[in-house]
Order: sequence, then C-alpha cells, then structure tokens
Amino acid sequence: MPAAIIAIANQKGGEGKTTTAINLAHGLSLTGKNTLLVDMDPQGNSSGIFADVENLTKTVADLFTKKHTAEEIIVRTKYEKLDLMPAKISLAEVELSTLNVDAPYVMRDALDSVKNKYDTIVIDCPPSLSIFTINALGSAGYVVIPLQAEKFSIDGIKGLQGTIEGIKRRINPDLKILGALITQLKSNTVLTKTILPVIQNYFPVFETSISTGVAVGESHLSRRSLLDYNPSVKQAKEYQSFVREVLNGIKK
Ligand SMILES: Nc1ncnc2c1ncn2[C@@H]1O[C@H](COP(=O)(O)OP(=O)(O)OP(=O)(O)O)[C@@H](O)[C@H]1O
Ligand SMILES: [Mg+2]
Repeated sequence: MPAAIIAIANQKGGEGKTTTAINLAHGLSLTGKNTLLVDMDPQGNSSGIFADVENLTKTVADLFTKKHTAEEIIVRTKYEKLDLMPAKISLAEVELSTLNVDAPYVMRDALDSVKNKYDTIVIDCPPSLSIFTINALGSAGYVVIPLQAEKFSIDGIKGLQGTIEGIKRRINPDLKILGALITQLKSNTVLTKTILPVIQNYFPVFETSISTGVAVGESHLSRRSLLDYNPSVKQAKEYQSFVREVLNGIKK
C-alpha cells in the first residue's frame, strides 16, 4: 500500500503546524511506520530539528527547478524509520520563476515516486496559502489543521475551509479533512464551553488537544522531537494520543 499522506496546514502563523508535524512524524515512526517528513516551508523550521540546514545542498527547491529528484534530496534522520525531505530559504526564491502549468503538482509527482517506500508521509506547510500549501494539499490524502483555540478567528477558519474546498474541486478530489487539532491550550473549560462548538461548525475536532508547556520550546531548542526530549511531559503524552487518533482516522 502506498503511504498515507497527511498535510499539516493553517495559513495563520504560529498555530503549531511545525510542532505538530515533527511530533506526528516521529510519533508515527515510533509505532513502527516507515515515515517521511516533508518540509514545504521556506522557513525550514522542521528541517532544522533534524538537519544542519545551512549546509544542506539539496532541498525541496530543487524539485521545482527540476535539478534533483525526490530520492536525491531525502535524508535520513537520527531517528529510526524517519526520513526528511528538507527545505530552506532558497524555496522562497523559486516561487515566481516556476509558476507554469506544472507548478501545483510538483510535490504530488515527487511523492508519487517515493510513496511506495513509506507507510506515512507528513507535510509541514508554510503560514500562507501560497503555491507551497497548494502543492501540499494537492498531494495529500488528509489534512490536519492545528488551531490555537484561544486566538482563532472565524475569518481565518472560513478562508482555510474555502481553500480546502477549492483544492478538492480543482486539484485533489480525494483530500479528506482529518480534523482540527487544538494547540497551545491554557484551559480546557474555556475550550469545551465556548470555543469548541464554534470550531466544530467548520471542521471535525480531534478529541485530543495539546496544552501549553515550556517543554515544547525547549525541545525545539535542543533540536529534538518532544517525544524524544521528554516523553513523560504532559504535551508529549497528548501528542502520543493525537498520533493514535490519526492512525485510527487514516485506517477508515
Ligand atoms: N503546546 C505548546 N506549548 C508551548 N509552546 C508551543 C506549543 N506549540 C507550539 N509552541 C510554540 O509556539 C511557536 C509556534 O509554534 P510552531 O512553530 O509549531 O507553529 P507554526 O504554525 O509552525 O508556525 P509558522 O506559521 O511560523 O510556521 C513556537 O515558538 C513553539 O515553540
Ligand atoms: Mg512552521
């Protein structure tokens, strides 16, 4: 079976996409799934956890310029069963020069060539509805939407829902919304009473939510996944339970 491909998307910045992509990818690999983490963000944040980004010579940008194949740019990570397709700032520079008819399908073609080697592929998206997010959603079977419940905006949610619908109509009719993941939550009471029903009007919401904790930032600084940095901390356990929900969701 080809890999289940899961894009982590939200056009708003700082909602927890990268944290979720890193820990979902590592969490899936820990359950025995051969996993590829794809960085589609020119910020290169998820690549920075696993690779020395400065010295990377082959990145996702080379797919757009057709300089290298997917296989050539994928690197192993320090974690067993977890590979990385890295990106860095050079990705931002290819955008305008590659807006030809193939542009939305670059990542789909790239993943087509490697998806038989993996059980799961996780794509970290940039905070924009750029060609890169379109590429990610165009190649994915599923989308997960990290959302900071206490800062969410209805306009933002509507915009994202519209984009996903547009992608389904024009590029990828198979795309399914796996759910919204509430991140950086300070109080569960506020969520269940007031915010949750509003978000549920737009997207299914994962039962697990991710609370706020300093270990998340610390794990980024130490360039490790949270599940590696401190698996017993609350947020690591929450991410493990989110991984289980994702596994159930993609089985259906
Ligand atoms: N559960 C959490 N608890 C505490 N801090 C968190 C949590 N999740 C994320 N953060 C912090 O919030 C910031 C944004 O998180 P992250 O980078 O995952 O979001 P993002 O959506 O990928 O951002 P961008 O849109 O810039 O790519 C980071 O500094 C991260 O360390
Ligand atoms: Mg990010």
